[in-house]
Amino acid sequence: MTRQLNAEVRHETPASTRSEEAYARALAVFPDGTSRVTIERDPIPKYMGRGEGAYLFDVDGNRFLDLNGNFTTLIHGHAFRPVVEAVYRQLASGSCFANPTQMEIELASILCERIPNVDRVRFVNTGTEAVMFAIKAARAFTGKAGIAKFEGAYHGAYDWVEVSQSASPENWGPADDPASVPLYKGMPESVLQETLVLRFNDTELLEKKLQAHGHWIAAVIIDPMPSRAGLIAPNPGFLEALHRLCRHHSVLIIADEVLNLRQGYHGASARYGLKPDLITMGKIIGGGLPIGAIGGREEVMQVFSAKSGRPLLPQGGTFSANPLSIVAGIAAMRALDKAAFARLDRLGDRLRANLTEIIGQRDAPFVVTGSGSLFRIHPMRRKPREFRDTATNPAQNAVLGTLSRFFSRHGVILPNGAAACLSTPMEETEIDTISDLFGLFLEEHAADINNIEKPE
Ligand SMILES: Cc1ncc(COP(=O)(O)O)c(C=O)c1O
Repeated sequence: MTRQLNAEVRHETPASTRSEEAYARALAVFPDGTSRVTIERDPIPKYMGRGEGAYLFDVDGNRFLDLNGNFTTLIHGHAFRPVVEAVYRQLASGSCFANPTQMEIELASILCERIPNVDRVRFVNTGTEAVMFAIKAARAFTGKAGIAKFEGAYHGAYDWVEVSQSASPENWGPADDPASVPLYKGMPESVLQETLVLRFNDTELLEKKLQAHGHWIAAVIIDPMPSRAGLIAPNPGFLEALHRLCRHHSVLIIADEVLNLRQGYHGASARYGLKPDLITMGKIIGGGLPIGAIGGREEVMQVFSAKSGRPLLPQGGTFSANPLSIVAGIAAMRALDKAAFARLDRLGDRLRANLTEIIGQRDAPFVVTGSGSLFRIHPMRRKPREFRDTATNPAQNAVLGTLSRFFSRHGVILPNGAAACLSTPMEETEIDTISDLFGLFLEEHAADINNIEKPE
């Protein structure tokens, strides 16, 4: 079914001399030439000049369809007009004040109206900060210090949620008693002891662990569809058990929707029937500017209230609720009406169905997960049910690297690891381009792909 590739999108990318020059200068000022660990370099990073809608243009003028969207933030693509105009207007009137603005009430109202269980909101600057304050809020509310998280799940850079973020078969321990694996050398032992590691979709383990440890656990933090842990959907029975057990052991549920709020008008918890006490948000609610938010049940959110003196949990932040992020967020969220989400769902369904069909036709060792505007291609035959099923061997990793490079050569940025997102400026043409390119990859790299299944 491989169609003629969209000629406009397909192009060979020459070695990027300006990117090479920039990288040479960057090596002199950054520890490894980059300013964050997530920058892809293969062999060097692509330096970007500008973005427009669904496309990025590097400093050498090459055009790329962007399936990264600044780590899923840019749900309207680049330089979305309403955001640009709102930010220009606000910038001319001041970029930050120590006083509140009327605009922050509007963005908070949008979240309270749309997201079930969000009765009250506090704004911060990043998803990491949102997760940090949600955990502190759960501690302040319950008087307990520990947290429970799911192996492999990414929740930003607060120490407790970094535990077992990068666990591997060498160190993750038995399936019925996962180890607390440090992310970096020198991670405090106390943090490891205060973090209980669970496995996604494993109800038996959840029951056993909360029975034994619920008395010191303030909250279970769960990303309803953890991206780095596989972009896998929760089993309905699993979420029901999570509710029942958390209520029974007086443990709060924090839904980390920093990434997955983009799954629907009412967010991801609503989509999967999760009823959290606290929700963390970020990415799309800032329209492309830095933001984070903690929302939740009125009773729990009262820990932030200073109405009758010192709050149970003080939360500040020089740039929290800064008007630039707020007006950008309002413009982005207003444009995300139910019809926009329905359209993204349709595009996502079409893409996942196309990719699955191509895989089936070629009997290739790949499987696709994801939902809404998110998708991930795994180099394996069986759909993973949880993080441990997603572990890849060197041959599989090599094929994922080749896949990313292949897409890049053909003018599409597919993040390494093949977890990617769509955006509202995309049309069916872009979806078909991605599908066709994947078909071509399977055709041209059949030999590499065969290596995946060769005995080691
Ligand atoms: C689920 C989740 N939580 C938290 C974060 C951290 O957000 P930030 O990078 O804005 O600190 C991320 C970022 O990718 C995320 O995906």
